[in-house]
Amino acid sequence: MNREIENQIEKILAEMTVQEKIGQLNQQAEPRSDEEITLCKQKIRNGEVGSIILTASSTAGNEKKSPINEELLDELQHVAVEESRSHVPLLYGRDVIHGHQTVYPIPLACACAFNEELLKKSYRNIAREAAAQSVHWTFSPMLDLSRDPRWGRIIEGPGEDPYVGAVMARACVEGLQGEELSDEDSLLACAKHYIGYGASEGGRDYQRTEITDYSLYNYYLPAFRAAVSAGVATVMSSFNDISGQPVTSSRKYLTDILRGQLGFEGFVVSDWGSVHHLLNFGVARDRADCAALALNAGVDMDMAVGCYAENLEQLLKEGRVSRERLDEAVRRILRVKLLKGLFAHPYPKKRRVDRGGHLAMAKELAVESMVLLKNERVLPLAKDRKIALLGPFAKERRSLLGNWTVDYCLEDVKCFQEALEEKIGREHLLVSADESGMFDDSVPKAGMADVIVLALGESWERTGERRCISELSLSADQIALLKRMRTLGKPVVGVFFCGRPMAMDGLAEYLDAILYAWHAGTKTADAVCDLLFGDRVPSGKTAVTFPRRTGHIPLYYNVTPSGSTINGYYGEEPFPCYLDSAASPAYPFGYGLSYTMFRYGAPQASPQALSLAALVAGEMFHISVEITNIGEYDGKETVQLYIHDRIASRMRPLRELKAWRKLSVGCGQTAAAEFELGYAQLGFYTEEGNYLVEPGCFDIYVGENCLTENRLSIEVR
Ligand code: GLC
Repeated sequence: MNREIENQIEKILAEMTVQEKIGQLNQQAEPRSDEEITLCKQKIRNGEVGSIILTASSTAGNEKKSPINEELLDELQHVAVEESRSHVPLLYGRDVIHGHQTVYPIPLACACAFNEELLKKSYRNIAREAAAQSVHWTFSPMLDLSRDPRWGRIIEGPGEDPYVGAVMARACVEGLQGEELSDEDSLLACAKHYIGYGASEGGRDYQRTEITDYSLYNYYLPAFRAAVSAGVATVMSSFNDISGQPVTSSRKYLTDILRGQLGFEGFVVSDWGSVHHLLNFGVARDRADCAALALNAGVDMDMAVGCYAENLEQLLKEGRVSRERLDEAVRRILRVKLLKGLFAHPYPKKRRVDRGGHLAMAKELAVESMVLLKNERVLPLAKDRKIALLGPFAKERRSLLGNWTVDYCLEDVKCFQEALEEKIGREHLLVSADESGMFDDSVPKAGMADVIVLALGESWERTGERRCISELSLSADQIALLKRMRTLGKPVVGVFFCGRPMAMDGLAEYLDAILYAWHAGTKTADAVCDLLFGDRVPSGKTAVTFPRRTGHIPLYYNVTPSGSTINGYYGEEPFPCYLDSAASPAYPFGYGLSYTMFRYGAPQASPQALSLAALVAGEMFHISVEITNIGEYDGKETVQLYIHDRIASRMRPLRELKAWRKLSVGCGQTAAAEFELGYAQLGFYTEEGNYLVEPGCFDIYVGENCLTENRLSIEVR
């Protein structure tokens, strides 16, 4: 508690009218036309606007680039600070999700880097670039756990694992908010979408979700718990309902759990229109109902649709919302504005950012995010070979940036062909004459090449909000190209520029090597070329399962045991899960190849057993494993540690990732991965939200992915 700030809040609040208090809860969309700007200035002068979201669209991620109008923002802030009665500065929010002018890999790709420090530094750079353009607040990180790649927004989040989500939450919040919120290079972060949006049924956006409290606490909440622990300034309420209760009108989720159990102290902003959507859910008769339900549930700020602005004054008079609740919401918003330093410094100073350094880091993160899924002794390629480059992503630029980026500099983006020409020279490349890279005349050229490289993928416009698909596959013409190239008897390398995992049956068998490049940002093409030719060695690991078929979804590694069969992910005894296909993943969670090989020693535990009391007192199990690089390249290996609580009062997942160490190991060298497992790692939450560690045996798996059998057991007595 900052006493000075609290005193300032009370002083400002005491002088505010009811209309001005309501104005603080109102976020409106950025005015674009002269008429909108004039009206917006008048509303600001009247104290009716507390924040402006810097986009005019409710699906900002899908729009063409829309530059920030810094001059207008400066004008509007002067109106708020100097011409309004309360002089409260405006808060400017924008979707700075995985980059600003410099674009980093989509968050799902970042999760595959398993590199917390690099992620945190990257998000620090992202904050620097956006803050230098007058942005105060970003609606990031998106922390929605998802097991369904049909959902277009899986690209924005951490994938299927709660622990990866928690690590990403911490790295992104700390990177964005820095040491001090008031630092000019810091952005206010926003943990979204609280909560459960990633469980939308059928992978169809905005659909209902069915999440038990047990699943909520153990799968969906950990990332938000970590964001709150990292001091996230704001949280965004999600579009979805959970088992018939819209989150945006749920006091249970937005107040009892978020504040009562997680201890969140910032403010909650609705998603765009999620207050108004309560009408569509059939839980509100009119917009006044919507406003009352949302405010009383715990939504402090209404994004962009004016439900609060239109109705709160009347709702106060009718006693349907209380003055105390209004003041509480205003206090939370004023506290964040004061912590951000907006009152002290409402106008940003012009300053330059180190774009060169940021681009270098974006490339580093892209290299570490990419996953080598298959390599039948084809990669790395020699630079003096004849390479036929074909496929629709050979000359593609915009899609390499992915969805949810609105401030990118396309002129910084090389296409794959350009990067290849730079890497090995035009004379080593056979390329299609046509822009699409798909034409027949390429086939004879491909026959003259030593290696065929196919630039495959999905458009950025097939991912993101309202961009769900029913078949996890490439376009028919790409599959036809794959099959045709296979007939030429040459090594065929597939580079996948995708936002989501594809179902790999019908794709992988036609390829000798697969590099999953994702939509990895501004430096995607350079990163791919460094990896293809061995200037860098792949180290990415899948943070989401790659299924064989779309019909296998949901398919995720941290699944609980089945009754009469193993489960499919980990085997199909005594009978197959499907009559028409294997149920195991094409590539499991945590999977990724290198150009070198790592041999794992047996894991060691010390001690082998601890009493529950000792664990509670802070004693830990020390787990260690040695890995030896037995290949021909220096490389990085993400050593993963999973637990399986064999017997518990609730069913526990067959594997739970609890830690990882990404180690750099030179050729012929041996390194040790050291872990500590204690009370915080060995328990689970009950459906009431109580954390429990129960005595019993735990299998500890330490290996290269979730299917490792490199294990030992420990006991809690
Ligand atoms: C969108 C998204 C949310 C985004 C917000 C503002 O509908 O759901 O993630 O931050 O609106 O653009």
